Amino acid sequence: MIETVRILFIGDIVGGIGKRTVLALLPALRERYEPGFIVVNGENAAGGIGITPKIANELFAAGVDVITLGNHTYRHREIYPYLDEEERILRPANFLRSQPGHGWCVVTRDDVRLGVVSLSGNLFMNAGRPAFAEADAALHAMQDKTDQILVDMHAEATSEKVGMGWHLDGRVTAVVGTHTHIPTADARLLPGGTAYITDVGMTGPRGGVIGVKREQAVEAMATRMPIKFETSAEDPWLNGVLITADGPRHAVAIEQVLTPAPEGMR
Ligand SMILES: [Fe+2]
Ligand SMILES: [Fe+2]
Repeated sequence: MIETVRILFIGDIVGGIGKRTVLALLPALRERYEPGFIVVNGENAAGGIGITPKIANELFAAGVDVITLGNHTYRHREIYPYLDEEERILRPANFLRSQPGHGWCVVTRDDVRLGVVSLSGNLFMNAGRPAFAEADAALHAMQDKTDQILVDMHAEATSEKVGMGWHLDGRVTAVVGTHTHIPTADARLLPGGTAYITDVGMTGPRGGVIGVKREQAVEAMATRMPIKFETSAEDPWLNGVLITADGPRHAVAIEQVLTPAPEGMR
């Protein structure tokens, strides 16, 4: 018998500003939503691209249960051994088997077992293996090991994310999209009981262009010349979703959590 479980999923943490926003808001979010699990996408946490062991450890120490990643997984070399050693950090499952890390894990809290799967889209993304086949393989491997399953579908194309939602409807608790850094307005429950959203959004500076200082991003677009990108520090927000499940792999609610950083940080 599974009690009601709430899972807080936080979209792509961008730069130090994004990490500080998460750390500053987590206590209040915890109090308000009482999540049983907290999962974050951390693929942009280190200076806007990738993640380091130090940052991952800070997030775990703050109570994060699982960190998912994406196309920027391998930017920092020091994360490679950490990806193999730390069970709770995931790179997309459909990367090549030869690449460091693994794509799913199971964490247990209060006798509830949450499986988390990280996937990368194949359209306009550099994943070595197909997302849909790998999703099926991961679910098969997790059979009988999980009460709830959350899938982070890190992808560029909305079509591929919607497709993954339908593909997994009724088999997992939630399919949440990441990567575009912009929250979409389609959070809903699919008929089979899977919570779905095409993109959760990012946790970082809304004053830039999906995380990058806006004058640099705009200059690159306007001039078509290479420009060094830095993370904006302007107007940080946390973008997430809260998923509520009432039974095994069966969601009953998904609501967006879109919250500005505390006054002192803005
Ligand atoms: Fe991202
Ligand atoms: Fe990404």
